[in-house]
Amino acid sequence: MKVLVTGGTGYIGSHTVVELLAAGHEAVIVDNLCHSKKLVLGRLKQITGVDVPFYEVDVTDLKELTKVIDEHDFDAVIHFAGLKAVDTSVAEPVRYYQNNLGSTLTVARVAADHNIPHVVFSSSATVYGDPESVPIPETAKLHATNPYGQTKLMSEQILDDVAKTGKIKVTLLRYFNPIGAHASGLIGEDPNEKPDNLVPLLDQVAVGLREKIMIFGDDWPTPDGTGVRDYVHVVDLAKGHVAALAHPPKEQIDVYNLGTGKGSSVKEVIAAYEQASGKELNKEIAPRRPGDIAECYADVSKAERELGWKAEFDLAKMCADSWNWRSKNPNGVEA
Ligand code: NAD
Ligand code: WQD
Repeated sequence: MKVLVTGGTGYIGSHTVVELLAAGHEAVIVDNLCHSKKLVLGRLKQITGVDVPFYEVDVTDLKELTKVIDEHDFDAVIHFAGLKAVDTSVAEPVRYYQNNLGSTLTVARVAADHNIPHVVFSSSATVYGDPESVPIPETAKLHATNPYGQTKLMSEQILDDVAKTGKIKVTLLRYFNPIGAHASGLIGEDPNEKPDNLVPLLDQVAVGLREKIMIFGDDWPTPDGTGVRDYVHVVDLAKGHVAALAHPPKEQIDVYNLGTGKGSSVKEVIAAYEQASGKELNKEIAPRRPGDIAECYADVSKAERELGWKAEFDLAKMCADSWNWRSKNPNGVEA
C-alpha cells in the first residue's frame, strides 16, 4: 500500500514509518515541522535505507494538501498531525481547536474527495476522562476533561460522520501511554518544549538536564499510592497501525484501544528507568497534579481479536530503549 502519513516526522509517526516500510508499504510524509525536525528524515534513511518522500505542508491547508494528494495514488492516510500538550491546550484552546480540528477536517475532506479509502486516526485514552472502572473497554463512556481531549473526541465524531457517507472507512486508534524508542537509538521522543509526560522528564533527569522528578501524589487509591497508567512501547504501537491497515473496517468505522492491558505505577516506572540507566534518579513527592486520575489501563482484547495485534515489549524494554535513545541524543536529533 501507499500510505500518506501526516505528522510523520513526529514521535509516533516516525516509528510508524519505519514499521510501514518494514512491512513492505510505501510511505509519504507530510509535516509542518511545528513539533519535529527535518533531520528525522536522515535518521529514517539510516534505519530503513529509504529516502522517504517528505512535504513541509500544514495539514490544515486544503490547497497545499490537495497538491500532495494529486501527485500520488494513496491507499490510506494515517493522521498523526496534531498538538498534544494537555496544559498548553488549556492555556491556548483556540490554537488547539484550530490545528487539531482543522487538520482532521482537511484529512477527512481530501480522503473523501480523492478516493483514499481508509483513514487511520490517532486518538487517545484521554477520551475516557476519569474512567468508571479499569481495564477500560472501547465501549466505556466518553468524556473529555480538557481542550486537547475535546479535539480528540470531536475528531472522532467528524470522522464517524464522514465514514457514514460511505466514502471512507475509518479506524480510530486510542493510544494509552506511548513511551520507549526505536532500538537503534536513532529516533525517539524529541520534545521541543518542556515535556509534561513522565518518561521524557525522566530522560532529562537521567542525562542531567533536570534536577529531579516530581512524583505527583503518593496518596492515590492504588497499590503503592502513585498513579497507574498503561505504558506501551512506541514500536508496538507503530505495529498496531500496520495491523489496522491490514484489517480495514468491515462496516464503516472501527475503534481500538492500543495499550498493553497492564497498569504500572509512577514508582514502578521510575524503578524500571533506574534499572535501565544504571542511575539513581533524584525524586520528590509532590502534590497531585490537577486533572490527574488514579488509574487508567486498557482492555486490549478487541485489538488482539480483530487486528491480531498484541504489544510484545515490557516496561524494562521500554525504559531501556528510552534511555538508549536519550543517552545517545541528550538534546534530541541534532544532526
Ligand atoms: P509529536 O508532536 O511528536 O508529533 C506530531 C507531529 O505532527 C509533529 O511532527 C508536528 O510537527 C506535526 N503537526 C502538528 N500539527 C500539524 C499540522 N497542522 N500540519 C502538519 N503537521 C503538523 O506527537 P506524537 O506523540 O507523535 O503524537 C502523534 C499523534 O498521536 C497526535 O495526534 C497525538 O495527539 C496522538 N497521541 C499521542 C499520545 C502520546 O502520548 N504521545 C497519546 C495519544 C495520542
Ligand atoms: C503519567 C503518570 C502522572 C509527570 C497524558 C495525556 C494523555 C496522553 C498521554 C496524549 C501520571 C505522573 C507525570 C511528572 C509524575 N497523551 N507524573 N511526575 O497524564 O497519563 O497522559 O499523556 O493523548 O492524553 O493526558 O501521562 O506521562 O503526563 O503522566 O508523577 O513529572 O506520571 O501524575 O500518574 P498521562 P503523563
